[in-house]
Amino acid sequence: MTPTIPRYLVPFHPKNIPHHFVDVLVIGGGIAGMRATMAIDPQLSTLVVTKDKLQESNSAYAQGGIAGVLAPEDKIANHVADTLSAGGDLCDPAIVEMVIREAPAHIRELIEWGTVFDREQGELLLGREGGHSHNRIAHALGDATGREIMRAMIERARQELGAQIWQNTFTIDLLTHEGECRGALVWHKNHGRTFVWAKQTILCTGGAGQIFRETTNPLIATGDGHAIAYRAGAELLDMEFMQFHPTVLYIAGSSRSLITEAIRGEGALLVDASGKRFMPEFDERAELAPRDIVSQAINDRMRKTRHPCVYLDLSPLEAGQAKKRFPGIARRCAEFGIDIAQDRIPVRPGAHYMIGGVKVNEVGYSTLPRLWAAGEVTSSGLHGANRLGSNSLLEGLVYGAHAGKAASAAALIEPDTFRALPLENRSRPPQTEPLDLQDIRNSLKSLMWRAAGVQREGQQLREASASIDAWCHYVLPRQFTDPAGWELQNMLTVARVMITAALSREESRGVHLRSDFPEQDDRHWQRHLVAVREDAEQV
Ligand code: FUM
Repeated sequence: MTPTIPRYLVPFHPKNIPHHFVDVLVIGGGIAGMRATMAIDPQLSTLVVTKDKLQESNSAYAQGGIAGVLAPEDKIANHVADTLSAGGDLCDPAIVEMVIREAPAHIRELIEWGTVFDREQGELLLGREGGHSHNRIAHALGDATGREIMRAMIERARQELGAQIWQNTFTIDLLTHEGECRGALVWHKNHGRTFVWAKQTILCTGGAGQIFRETTNPLIATGDGHAIAYRAGAELLDMEFMQFHPTVLYIAGSSRSLITEAIRGEGALLVDASGKRFMPEFDERAELAPRDIVSQAINDRMRKTRHPCVYLDLSPLEAGQAKKRFPGIARRCAEFGIDIAQDRIPVRPGAHYMIGGVKVNEVGYSTLPRLWAAGEVTSSGLHGANRLGSNSLLEGLVYGAHAGKAASAAALIEPDTFRALPLENRSRPPQTEPLDLQDIRNSLKSLMWRAAGVQREGQQLREASASIDAWCHYVLPRQFTDPAGWELQNMLTVARVMITAALSREESRGVHLRSDFPEQDDRHWQRHLVAVREDAEQV
């Protein structure tokens, strides 16, 4: 039996909870959220809420960089063609053209705002990643591009913008009234719950990698934005497309940190346990083939060698170059006794970037009135079925700017009301049986990795779907009082939608590889899959 997805996770009544009124509410403080905030008219009151501290976002963990046509020998048409070619015939060509064309101006704007990109003799150093035909990746601090961009954006936002920022504030649910988004119910451990009523709301909550056991994503990436939008009745698109990064550090006991693709761009090779290079057998682009191909090749090699990982061999890089260009990776590996100047780095694939998400148009408007969205939480049409590396920070900037500007324009023409809406959600009888939330969370992550990881198969997906439905039956109806429970409910909700989509798409395309349907089938499947709650009309 299909589990019921509750509309709201917690009980509430407007008489018992404080109310806060703003013109624009921005949920999430990564690159999309900060760029959206910067685009909002300063006459308006804006509130940014972030789940953790402002510095902690998926964007801040980006290593490789941001893609854009910045070299004279490169052309917009090349970047467009590379993006379309990676995207498995599912990109929206008009959106690709728009984003790529706007890229250079957005990167220059970041420089004006104080981002220090790596340069040589004054010229931007441009790196290369899989699927890119030219060097066009601007990077910073070697392998800490996201951290540097976010530093500059946060400083600017703090100095020059009037937005309020509530950190460590968990967004439990979007508030909807008569089919429109009216803000959100948020929670802070010292202040409890608050109704934030907003004329316009912009969702920029990032990804969902934590739903999988192996992931490059930080602990906060639990798909909260996808789940709250789904519960509120917004349409999600293409939720089967989770991108796996081929090279995630694999050391027992360490966090699974990203080993940037740029390292292969600089010449590092992939070798198996016996030291044999294997990528040229799979693709003529070898180590610089798109990520789906490299991830599949690594999995195949791990299976054939019965070894839990493969290795990055950095010996082709010039002596001293590896540590200078990738200081963060060198530091992290050194903590586990690996010297990247001479040792190989153990790696295997992990969940990296959620391609599917809230359906948005070219200005970031969702299908739920008054709700906008930008960045990883969305499906904009840029990435199709497979994202080209370093196009995601770019998408966050372009869509953050569009959504911020458009939401701001919409809020400016609305009169102030300062009125709470008559919304109420009743308490359910408390459950007495204790639940081990961590156990369910770990079981879900392992199951998703096995059944919905790099390679999928119908029977395994069906079994996973049955287990997740069973967990949903007893976890979703509970009314928890803190984020551990809400996160698990969000993860289960998103996992269900992902598995359903992965089961439906009976073909292999982009990052979605079905061993029982190994071919791309354009006749039946060159289309998007929509996920929306059945009773969306009534929310
Ligand atoms: O490999 C990387 O540095 C990842 C870049 C990206 O996901 O865009």
